Amino acid sequence: MDARTNLDRHLRGSKRLDLTGVAWEQIRDHPLSSAETRCLTYMMDIESHTMVFLRSLLATRAAMEPELTAFLACWAYEELWHGEALSRFLGEAGLRLEPDPDLPGWDDPYPSRVPRIARTRAGALGARGRVSRHGLALASRLFGGLPATHMAWGAINELSTLTAYGTLVDRTSNPVLADLLARIVRDERRHYSYYRVEADRRLAADGLGRRVTRTALDRSWAIVGTGVRPLAETDFVVLHLFGDGAGLRAAREMDATVDGLPGLDGLRLFEKARAGAIRRAGAAAPAGRRWARAGSCSTGN
Ligand SMILES: [Fe+2]
Ligand SMILES: [Fe+2]
Repeated sequence: MDARTNLDRHLRGSKRLDLTGVAWEQIRDHPLSSAETRCLTYMMDIESHTMVFLRSLLATRAAMEPELTAFLACWAYEELWHGEALSRFLGEAGLRLEPDPDLPGWDDPYPSRVPRIARTRAGALGARGRVSRHGLALASRLFGGLPATHMAWGAINELSTLTAYGTLVDRTSNPVLADLLARIVRDERRHYSYYRVEADRRLAADGLGRRVTRTALDRSWAIVGTGVRPLAETDFVVLHLFGDGAGLRAAREMDATVDGLPGLDGLRLFEKARAGAIRRAGAAAPAGRRWARAGSCSTGN
């Protein structure tokens, strides 16, 4: 698919997540496991953090490409509604989250959980956040190929997001959650598709971009949301969704998909990230309590 068709398809398809017909009133009929609520809370926080990711991206040369910024405008809009949908789902499930006193219902005023989002942003925008944002802007000045890196990075993160949501859909016994996440997954697939086509095209045409992207991913890539929430929360989600044998196969499948991008074969990003989470969980807890502490490899608790 050429770049223009790819972008046109995305812009025409972009819309707020359609929640028509979601059976909000049935959510409490099917209690969520504590592991599910912890994963969904993480995902809500990361979806709601998209504007801060966008802020960093717009400090790079990406801001000078009108086609890219058109995509990013729609992407950020859609991610906002993913965060809101998860916030309302958790509110209807009865999950109060620090520091917010309220339980957002499905038809309460938007936006919800404002104090929580503000606190998360303040935590992630400390000294480390500033360094990475300025580092990204500097790298963009030095290497014209950074949009290729950005597109590859985006494709990899969207791939992991849609795989994680798909895993939650497969495992949950809550049909309302399965319905809601299946709707979000449709958007994430479209996001992945856009990033993937752009990454393929830009990496194939740019030798320096391929080398920069490979090095950047190999040295700096981490599971989406790392640094936004405490590392223990990222590890919990990784271990809950990808810690068992099926999770290892899913990680390898995602790595095989990344292998198909020009110049990026053999990185094994997901398998390494999974191994890191397992190692940290093992180091953090005494033998016999390791999986319990890390969230376990099971489908729920
Ligand atoms: Fe999303
Ligand atoms: Fe997405």
